[in-house]
Amino acid sequence: MSSDTARRRAAVVGLGARARLFAQALAGPYADRFELAGFCDVNSHRMAVHNAWLADAHPERSPVPAYAAEDFEEMLRRERIDLVVVCTVDHTHDHYIVAALEAGCDVVTEKPMTTDSDKARRILEAQRRTGREVRVAFNYRYNPAHSAVRELISAGEIGEVGSVHFEWLLDLRHGADYFRRWHRDKANSGGLMVHKSTHHFDLVNWWLGTRPETVFAQGGLFFYGDEAGRRRNLAQEYDRAHGSPAAEADPFAVHLSDSSVLSALYLDAEAEDGYHRDQNVFGPGVTIEDDMAVLVRYATGATLTYHLTAYSPWEGYRVAFNGSKGRLELLVEESTWTPPRVRTNSPEPVLHGAEAEDTAGRTELLLRPFWEEPREIKVASGEGGHGGGDVRMLEDLFGTRAPDPLHRAADAADGAQSLVTGLAANRSFETGLPVRTRDLLPPD
Ligand SMILES: NC(=O)c1ccc[n+]([C@@H]2O[C@H](COP(=O)([O-])OP(=O)(O)OC[C@H]3O[C@@H](n4cnc5c(N)ncnc54)[C@H](O)[C@@H]3O)[C@@H](O)[C@H]2O)c1
Repeated sequence: MSSDTARRRAAVVGLGARARLFAQALAGPYADRFELAGFCDVNSHRMAVHNAWLADAHPERSPVPAYAAEDFEEMLRRERIDLVVVCTVDHTHDHYIVAALEAGCDVVTEKPMTTDSDKARRILEAQRRTGREVRVAFNYRYNPAHSAVRELISAGEIGEVGSVHFEWLLDLRHGADYFRRWHRDKANSGGLMVHKSTHHFDLVNWWLGTRPETVFAQGGLFFYGDEAGRRRNLAQEYDRAHGSPAAEADPFAVHLSDSSVLSALYLDAEAEDGYHRDQNVFGPGVTIEDDMAVLVRYATGATLTYHLTAYSPWEGYRVAFNGSKGRLELLVEESTWTPPRVRTNSPEPVLHGAEAEDTAGRTELLLRPFWEEPREIKVASGEGGHGGGDVRMLEDLFGTRAPDPLHRAADAADGAQSLVTGLAANRSFETGLPVRTRDLLPPD
């Protein structure tokens, strides 16, 4: 804590789309507890966009000092930063987490905590050495339906959990987005097993209060990518959508100029780093999978069968827990179908998690005790992104911390244990063999 103020001084590194949640929270509802005192990014344009948004919302504020990526440590010193929020591209998280810890700061990092086991070890070692706090922003833990599952399981409603069956579907809008952006290169994101499934593997670890021991997985690129696109005649001839006539009729194209937010954050920022957020999902260079099947055995003896599909007509998930006293089933329909894209001048980007369109579905949580009729458990619907998870998570990260019987706060060890299932799955894809997680990361 800085000596000259009761408020803690916070910095955000990586000022893309996700950073908006944190910057607006720190400058808005949590401004009495934090001074937003630094921005850091490889792209100065995006930092200026965030400053313009803050000026709109808080005209009395001075702009947040903006630093280039190579000046990160200088920013920490000069701005006397206490807390760093890491929202950069996944494979760079470790660099900022470790440097911030070494400088005596606490860290909130976006998921996935990092993208490989060496980087995860560096983070865990730095956290232990410095004794500072690392919180991983697992907002799904704060979704009321997910909290209810944890409550029911820990109250023993279905007894001891023997197995979990979990299917997650990404629709043609949200699923395709991973194949347009930096995520399409596994070196950036670790693939969807790491980038996306880290949420889901974390939920299972947390719901069951256990950790993964053995993982076997099969996965591949079935739908997106140049080869599959050519084979099914889905591919249009363009590299990126902006300025490409061939993209006009492509239902898989995103048109950055249709959204003032996407234009500001990406199109207008391209001159600095050449990053194209609107690449052809059927173009070359996709090195991640879109269809993945995973079998996990946990320390408690429970097993998980898990599937992630990134080209589904609807978005949502089903998870079922088989217990020694009954079964618990959760169905979440986030969208019931995917309408084709129409070109609009929408002020908001079509970003996952934030949309509630007329295709929005429903949540159903069903408890099926042995020898009894099923009971529907009513779940509060949450306001804001990720089923209300974002808002509740912000309160836990930046508000006065109340004791939480659900233990929703995730630390670096949780980040590592959620990551290791995906890392093991990636290795199993390559070798065709089961992987012991302890060969990738020690259990604690
Ligand atoms: N919890 C969630 O639900 C959720 C949702 C969306 C994104 N995220 C996470 O947030 C992070 C950012 O995702 P996004 O969608 O905002 O991506 P984005 O592409 O919009 O933003 C990434 C930002 O990082 C910057 N950057 C890239 N390399 C950098 C480097 N070496 N140093 C400093 N800055 C660098 C880019 O210039 C850009 O401003 C990712 O880790 C992602 O997994 C989490």
